[in-house]
Amino acid sequence: MMNINFIVNGKKISAEIKPYENLARVLRRLGYVEVKIGCEAGDCGACCVILNGQSVNSCMVFAAAADGGNITTVAGIGSITFPHPLQEAYVECGAVQCGYCTPGSIVSAKNLLDRNPHPDDDEIKTALSGNICRCTGYYKQIEAVKLAAEKIANKKKEIPKN
Ligand code: FES
Ligand code: FES
Repeated sequence: MMNINFIVNGKKISAEIKPYENLARVLRRLGYVEVKIGCEAGDCGACCVILNGQSVNSCMVFAAAADGGNITTVAGIGSITFPHPLQEAYVECGAVQCGYCTPGSIVSAKNLLDRNPHPDDDEIKTALSGNICRCTGYYKQIEAVKLAAEKIANKKKEIPKN
């Protein structure tokens, strides 16, 4: 066993882990069950989190390698009471059905919009290409990311300049 420390959704966390454990399993054990495990082989993207500014498949990261890191899960992006525009847009566009892929998809989309606030269809497709969805088809997710970009831009316009 070994001890690691990281920040998850703004909170300092200390955890006892086994050296071979992956980050997805450790996060879920700590209660971050919004991090989903699908393939546990780096193929589906259900387990995506933002680690030190990069969207990663947390099943492919040793938890030990995240020691000292800063992690954001989908629950750190927004909540039922204070949803992020991406979360609102996914619902409004019908881009959610079973929801299993949704945490990872929103994490990847958030990482994209942080880097590129006005992505075109191809850029959205590339950003979400690692997130497999069995239910909705991908068109609605592309629409949702575009709607979220619009919502974020409109919110920025509402902020008074002085
Ligand atoms: Fe991590 Fe599928 S569970 S990529
Ligand atoms: Fe079911 Fe994407 S909504 S897998």
